[in-house]
Amino acid sequence: MINIVKGFKDILPKEAAIRGDILLKAKRIFESNGFNEIILPILEKTELFTRSIGEATDIVQKEMYTFTDKNGDSLSLRPEGTASVVRAFVENNLFNKSTPHKYYYSGPMFRRERPQKGRLRQFYQLGLEFFGEDSPLADAHIIYILHKFLSEINLQNVVIEINSVGCEFCRPKYEEELTKYYTKNIDNLCEDCSSRLSKNPLRLLDCKNETCSQLKTDAPVIVEYLCSECLEHHNRLKDFLKIFNVNFRENKFMVRGLDYYTKTVFEAVSSDGLGSQNAVGAGGRYNNLVEQITGKKFHGIGFALGVERLVLLLNQDESEIAPDFFIVTLGESSLNIGIKIYLELTQKGFRGEFDYQLKGFKHQLKKADKYKSKFCIIIGENEVKSNKVIVKNMLTGVQQEIAAENIEGVLNEPYKL
Ligand code: HAM
Repeated sequence: MINIVKGFKDILPKEAAIRGDILLKAKRIFESNGFNEIILPILEKTELFTRSIGEATDIVQKEMYTFTDKNGDSLSLRPEGTASVVRAFVENNLFNKSTPHKYYYSGPMFRRERPQKGRLRQFYQLGLEFFGEDSPLADAHIIYILHKFLSEINLQNVVIEINSVGCEFCRPKYEEELTKYYTKNIDNLCEDCSSRLSKNPLRLLDCKNETCSQLKTDAPVIVEYLCSECLEHHNRLKDFLKIFNVNFRENKFMVRGLDYYTKTVFEAVSSDGLGSQNAVGAGGRYNNLVEQITGKKFHGIGFALGVERLVLLLNQDESEIAPDFFIVTLGESSLNIGIKIYLELTQKGFRGEFDYQLKGFKHQLKKADKYKSKFCIIIGENEVKSNKVIVKNMLTGVQQEIAAENIEGVLNEPYKL
């Protein structure tokens, strides 16, 4: 037996069905807010990610699946979608189009992290990106879409946290203060943080180590260092979010694991049993990224959701997918009618099963029970003559004899005791 690769996961039918539902709802909300789908390759030149995500990030330093192609190019499995959307936006001259530059995408991403609950090495993201606007109204709209989607899929106990990480003019001063603060406390830092301090001091705010998180409480706060433009942007965003009716919480220490953000950053955080991997979605503004990758000046903002984390929170019920009906027949002519009824009902979208082994009545009923079918449609000799069927509700045990054309009505009735 050859087993699956560590950190990778088979998506079994029940989970696949929940994902299908999630993607359908996202598609509807994203498209009604003006976003169009874009489908991009899984493999890109490594440089696309090193230049965008940042040389000093964990993703680039340790987590990418990178290999040298036969022609000597260094290629990587994409660890996220934003950089690819930016590349495709410019490479395909989409910026010349008169329509708004709004794109959404979904697909697998790859990061060689330490696997744990809600953290995989291949995971599926659902994201969107909006280019060309720097207004806090755009930020509020994007965060509203995230919020709307989460409430549409009925995810409970999720809060949207926001912060600003400033811009290239105000952030260096903050980083300097942060470095001073942590240098004073260097003896209490974990090994990772001591080595990260000179390269990427913001990342220290995200460390889960107990002493490092304790130190964070007294660390300098970025909003106090924002330049007037970034501060104004942040305050206007909060006003707009209220108008969009989005509940949010400020998290003054929120930083992100990717280096490209400017001004607004946000995360949708669940308090429902995901442990430390509690961000179901995250994003922010990136006003320099498009230029950094392509040389074209475009502002940008977007987010991505982690589909496995959404499924973990939604998939609390243990039951398997059950058929709506099971055809039970007695003899050749009743089987012929049974097949016809099966075809009619499945064409209408009901999920049906029957006994392929053509065994006896009792065997068929047992199988219907095993499959947890909601109804049995029983067609016996009498029923063939009278053009009627017996529909048995398998939950209540109640049977009724009805005309074949009325089966649909019974299957549509609420199914409960
Ligand atoms: P990110 O925070 O790295 O941002 O990932 C977004 C979401 O993907 C996370 O909130 C989480 O739900 C999910 N995720 C990340 N890593 C894993 C993993 N190893 N296993 C399972 N789920 C995971 C980005 O990727 C940015 N590109 C988001 C963005 C779009 N910013 C602007 N536009």
